[in-house]
Amino acid sequence: MDTTEIQSLSLITQNQSMRSILRNIDRVAESEASVLLIGETGVGKELLAKYIHRVSRRAMEPLVKVSLSSIPAELLESELFGHDRGAYTNATEEKKGLFEMADGGTIFLDDIDDVPIQVQSKLLRFIESRELMHVGGTTSKPIDVRFITASKIDLKELVNRNIFRADLFYRLNVVPFSIPPLRERKDDVPFLVHHFARTFQPDREVTFSPEAMKALFDYSWPGNVRELRNVIQRVVLFAGHEVMPDDLPLEVKISTDGSVQMLVKACYKCFVDESMNFEQVLSCLEHNLITTALEKSGGNQSKAAKSLRLSLSTFRDKLKKYSFIQ
Ligand SMILES: Nc1ncnc2c1ncn2[C@@H]1O[C@H](COP(=O)(O)OP(=O)(O)OP(=O)(O)O)[C@@H](O)[C@H]1O
Ligand SMILES: [Mg+2]
Repeated sequence: MDTTEIQSLSLITQNQSMRSILRNIDRVAESEASVLLIGETGVGKELLAKYIHRVSRRAMEPLVKVSLSSIPAELLESELFGHDRGAYTNATEEKKGLFEMADGGTIFLDDIDDVPIQVQSKLLRFIESRELMHVGGTTSKPIDVRFITASKIDLKELVNRNIFRADLFYRLNVVPFSIPPLRERKDDVPFLVHHFARTFQPDREVTFSPEAMKALFDYSWPGNVRELRNVIQRVVLFAGHEVMPDDLPLEVKISTDGSVQMLVKACYKCFVDESMNFEQVLSCLEHNLITTALEKSGGNQSKAAKSLRLSLSTFRDKLKKYSFIQ
């Protein structure tokens, strides 16, 4: 198959921008440079971190993942740096930190955007000195790790908002890669669909009807590759020989029906704000529907009116009501 299938990691992509990212990743993987992977949830940041480690010269050494969002702030320091006996009331034994466990290998700091500001300075000190001291310790020892970090948002924004230290940002941002969301590389969708179908049904060939594939292609995949993987895992379990649109989850199935998708999108925006009253929700909904319809029609009012199944005059009344036109 004409896809980039990296042995055993199964990193599937046909997309030009992803391929160019992979080419650059190949180049930096062999170096010791710190890599920052930026991308929405489920785009494959962890998979890429594993890939970088795998092709680096540290491949035989450990790759230690630290999920910074899932460790409570008060435990983070001791998890990362370890602690000496007696460092806390219930620290009855010395404990190795995650950085020590990664010694010689790679540390993957996931969700770096969630690291509390008080731990940031300690992290910075460690990156600069590569010397580690346990919490409650008195001596430090050298640690040799390569850093890969991942963030769901552009760290620069956090720096501008003063919640992320600029000096730490520059240390981590040596080689940044922005991984595009799946909706911006739809050409990967059919390849990923077939890949996951084969992965989850290795003994049975499952095909997809053109309509089902179109729905999968049209859907916006807010959860990116992870969401697609989960959908295909479920679908191939229950589907017959050929997957039909009716076998797909509702949100994917309706993605081919533009107006319904627009409604769902608009509703979401309106209903998450609990402070709005009924009238405000309705106005917000209407405003969003009009905006989305205009966006989709490239500003063509007749097309936009049609997509909302409104007459042009009613649509224009609404444009006036919401000050889109005078
Ligand atoms: N290009 C790809 N080819 C095959 N599988 C992929 C690809 N990208 C991601 N996946 C799979 O999708 C799932 C989600 O990927 P991963 O965990 O790397 O995402 P992530 O960016 O780290 O997400 P999060 O921000 O939520 O932690 C994993 O099962 C991964 O193996
Ligand atoms: Mg991840």
